[in-house]
Amino acid sequence: LKRLVVVGVGAGDPEQLTLQAIAALQEVDVVFVVEKGATAADFRRSREAICRRHITNRPYRFVEIEDARRDRDAPSYEASVRTWHDERALRYASAIQHELHDGECGAFLAWGDPAFYDSTLRVLDAVEASMGGALDYRVVPGVSSISALAAAHRIALNQVGRPVLLTTGRLFAEHGFPEAVDDVVVMLDDRAAFTTVVDPGVDIYWGANVGMPDEVLVAGPVCTVADEIVRRRAEVRRARGWVFDVYLLRRSVSTGRSPLRPT
Ligand SMILES: C[S@@+](CC[C@H](N)C(=O)[O-])C[C@H]1O[C@@H](n2cnc3c(N)ncnc32)[C@H](O)[C@@H]1O
Repeated sequence: LKRLVVVGVGAGDPEQLTLQAIAALQEVDVVFVVEKGATAADFRRSREAICRRHITNRPYRFVEIEDARRDRDAPSYEASVRTWHDERALRYASAIQHELHDGECGAFLAWGDPAFYDSTLRVLDAVEASMGGALDYRVVPGVSSISALAAAHRIALNQVGRPVLLTTGRLFAEHGFPEAVDDVVVMLDDRAAFTTVVDPGVDIYWGANVGMPDEVLVAGPVCTVADEIVRRRAEVRRARGWVFDVYLLRRSVSTGRSPLRPT
């Protein structure tokens, strides 16, 4: 039997690693790395630093898995993602079969928490099914960028007794606030979807590279601060070569008052 653990390692601040994550890392023989895009070099460095700092009790090795490419020109987004995940599953399965020996434990270090917009678990489900019981994997949760954002702004994401929607920039730009939802957390937004909001009663709590040395936070009525956010976002991207941002859009329902607006 081969064992695997998917460890949420926090969203950029190495101090976000939990005690459970550290204990899991200390059982690891192989760390699988799949890096891609503009973040690849920085993510690689941060994962290596985590392993150097916490896997001090045993030898371990890194195994690179070359990531599959998603066809961004495909007519159907969902179909192209499915094909991409299938290709990934084949590559992960091959690496696990060839590089992880029976009795060993492998790890995937997931950015933030693997439960949010991370395909690792979906891909590993397919790998597990293809390996017919020869793989046992578990998940250690991590501090998501969503929690890091809420903490940085000192806010709860829900209003009293109300729902919160978690979505992407693409979907928010298409659909806006759904019926009966006044709090929306947006991730994966490369199009500044918040600039589509015209309701002057909506506030934004925004963060770029939250928890990292170049963190930027902005909060205020979205119609007032949108331009500033677009500018600050571009500055972070220019300086580091990439930017991750996440934000909450909130229509205040209970009192109609917002802590961001003087009464
Ligand atoms: C592929 S998703 C991974 C999310 C991750 N699993 C999590 O729990 O945060 C990448 C998106 O997460 C958000 N993100 C991740 N880390 C961030 C950070 N440190 N600051 C702001 N946003 C972040 C951004 O919206 C980014 O586009």
